[in-house]
Amino acid sequence: MVADMTEANPRISKAVIPAAGLGTRFLPATKATPKEMLPVVDKPAIQYVVEEAAAAGLDDVLMITGRNKRPLEDHFDRNHELESALEKKGDGSKLAKVQESSDLATIHYVRQGDPKGLGHAVLCAAPHVGNEPFAVLLGDDLIDPRDPLLQRMVEVQEQHGGSVIALMEVAPEQIHLYGCAAVESTEAGDVVKVTGMVEKPDPADAPSNYAIIGRYVLAPQIFDVLRKTEPGRGGEIQLTDALQQLAADEKIGGPVHGVVFKGRRYDTGDRGDYLRAIVRLACEREDLGPDFRTWLRSFVAEEM
Ligand code: UTP
Repeated sequence: MVADMTEANPRISKAVIPAAGLGTRFLPATKATPKEMLPVVDKPAIQYVVEEAAAAGLDDVLMITGRNKRPLEDHFDRNHELESALEKKGDGSKLAKVQESSDLATIHYVRQGDPKGLGHAVLCAAPHVGNEPFAVLLGDDLIDPRDPLLQRMVEVQEQHGGSVIALMEVAPEQIHLYGCAAVESTEAGDVVKVTGMVEKPDPADAPSNYAIIGRYVLAPQIFDVLRKTEPGRGGEIQLTDALQQLAADEKIGGPVHGVVFKGRRYDTGDRGDYLRAIVRLACEREDLGPDFRTWLRSFVAEEM
């Protein structure tokens, strides 16, 4: 059960989804379309993410959009022409699919003028979020709905205050691909206290093999820190650099904890992982899975 929400730690209701990155790993597909709109089986990646926020009780969603915001806005808006065409045809199941995305949450949009980094994208949410803790979900990180993570992070934030990040153990040789956290254990097996963070470290310098993945519950003090954060790695304002400051000084915005995630996650911003995500999710689908698995078995047998 949720503890009493005091003014100092109000209930979390807002989710921020940054979707303004250039998506260069997916060019040319992302030349005119945000990578978050690329389909994973038959839904754009970002719809899974909005569904996840809504399932965790966060029904006020702010998307940070970039130069190609139209497809995102259109996807989460009504499409009256298509709806009436499907109504006329009497195709109720497709009509439901069209309406699903516009009924999920109240979605707001704000433009990030220049893609100056994830930290800068999060800072664009400050006027909408105000002075309350909020969640950030990266649109290219899919968490399998069967392994809920965000609910647990919200619970941990309500218990400890401050900020909560999501961590996943990776092989040491993979840690240079992620932000990495230095941690201390706590009484809860799946929760650690975060004492430091470093963006994409060389394996030899990495403080652990806990990688930071794309879910955050942040104290509003992060905005003040981000305003003062200089561009870091890649010339971008890094969210990890601002979080590092919160972790280094609890007086700023409370402690930083990490929830260790052991469930299924798909990094759809990476082409190889994107393909794996589609194959796995398609295999598991009741409607597509049986035929697709049969085809996949014979395809693999031929290829090997
Ligand atoms: P990535 O690091 O994956 O960068 O951003 P990217 O530009 O989207 O993709 P590549 O590396 O060029 O292929 C992580 C998340 O932060 C958002 C992205 O949309 C993605 O969800 N982001 C990144 C912004 O919203 N604004 C930025 O300035 C940078």
